[in-house]
Formats: sequence, structure tokens, C-alpha cells
Amino acid sequence: MTTDLSSHPLVQHYLTILRDRSTSASEFRRCCKGMTEVIMVEAAKLLSLDSVKVQTPLEMADGAHLSPGVVFVPILRAGLGMLDPAMDIIPGSSVGYIGMERDENTAEASCYYAKMPDLTASSQVFVLDPMLATGGSAAQCVEQIKAHGAKRVNMVCIIAAPEGIAAFEAAHPDVPIVAGKIDRELNEDRYILPGLGDFGDRLFNT
Ligand code: PRP
Ligand code: URA
Repeated sequence: MTTDLSSHPLVQHYLTILRDRSTSASEFRRCCKGMTEVIMVEAAKLLSLDSVKVQTPLEMADGAHLSPGVVFVPILRAGLGMLDPAMDIIPGSSVGYIGMERDENTAEASCYYAKMPDLTASSQVFVLDPMLATGGSAAQCVEQIKAHGAKRVNMVCIIAAPEGIAAFEAAHPDVPIVAGKIDRELNEDRYILPGLGDFGDRLFNT
């Protein structure tokens, strides 16, 4: 299941600034933060709750707390830009890191770093990566997370290509994708069109 949030006015506003080639790195970072906050509020609908009773100044009321075990996994590098805003939306979470890099010629992703917290069947994992292009980085990352014992995994991205969504869903039909925008297609170099270029380079000014 893929959720496309592109009708949201804030998503359209932030996306336009992120796409603009003249946007500075500091402005790009600010909009990455704003965009992630909007997307995470939507992704948080997937969280489970524990019922509690709460004493108001007047009487007892029914309430709910987020179930524990939320884990964020940003895919390095670009996913790092989404980590702080995601943690602001869902506090009390743990963080794992996965470093994935695409080969410049083949666009094949390979993993160069992984550090996971303890994961169990009840962990609620949110993988953070702004760009889902061929879907290779995201699919490999989720494979590793599942191998560590997680069963409830969600993919959160800013832009996704239809080709990447299809490949990812074929590999992980049980993992929902929440995307700011589904773009048109990949070009021959497997960059997303219209896209925004290389997210990591623009975020880190490299
Ligand atoms: C980018 C992006 C994703 C990946 C998406 O990372 O941040 O991780 O490409 O492409 P895919 O869906 O075809 O795998 P990149 O490899 O450029 O590394 P970086 O984040 O360090 O710049
Ligand atoms: N990674 C990016 O940063 N941008 C793309 O368009 C594709 C992969």
C-alpha cells in the first residue's frame, strides 16, 4: 500500500522549494525538516496505541499512549535529514543506522554500514530515505531489518518513482510506503524525473 500526500498544501509548498535548483543548502535543510514533519504525521497513523486511564482534575477519563518500540532507521546519508523532525513527531524512539550507496554506473545499491538496536516482532520500524528511485536501497535495508527480527516495518520517503514502488512492493508487499509525492519516472541514469537531483549532495552541500 502506498500513500501519496501530494494533495497536501504544505507538501506542495515544500516540494516546490526542494525541487528548485537555486535553493540554498540551508533552505533545502529547512524544507526537508518541514516536509518530513508533514509526512511523519501521516505515517504516525500506522502506530499502535495502549489504552490507559487518566485522572483529570474532575474525573477519570479514557486515554491512550503510543505503544513502546518505535524505531527509526535513516538510510545514510540523505535519510539523516529526516531523522530529527521524525523524532520530534514521535518522541521516545530508538534509532538504527544503515549506510547504502548506489553504484554510479549501475545504480545498484550496496550496504557499507549497519548498526541496529534490538528489534523484536513488536518493534514498529520506520525507514527514512527521501528518495525511492529504483527501490534497491530501500528493499535491501528492509531485508536487513527483517533479518534482525522486526515484522512491522514502514517506508517513509519524500519522492518515490513508480518503478521503485513496483520493485519495492514486489520484494516487501507487507511494508506500507508513505510518500510526499509519486513522481513521473526514472531517467536512463536512474534519477527521478522531475525529481530534485541528488538529495544527499543538496542536503550536505557536497
Ligand atoms: C540516494 C538516496 C537513496 C537512494 C535511492 O542515495 O538517498 O538512498 O539514492 O536510490 P535507489 O532507490 O535507486 O536505491 P545515494 O546512493 O545517492 O547515497 P547518499 O544518500 O549518500 O547520497
Ligand atoms: N537518489 C537521489 O538522490 N536522487 C534521485 O533522483 C535518485 C536517487
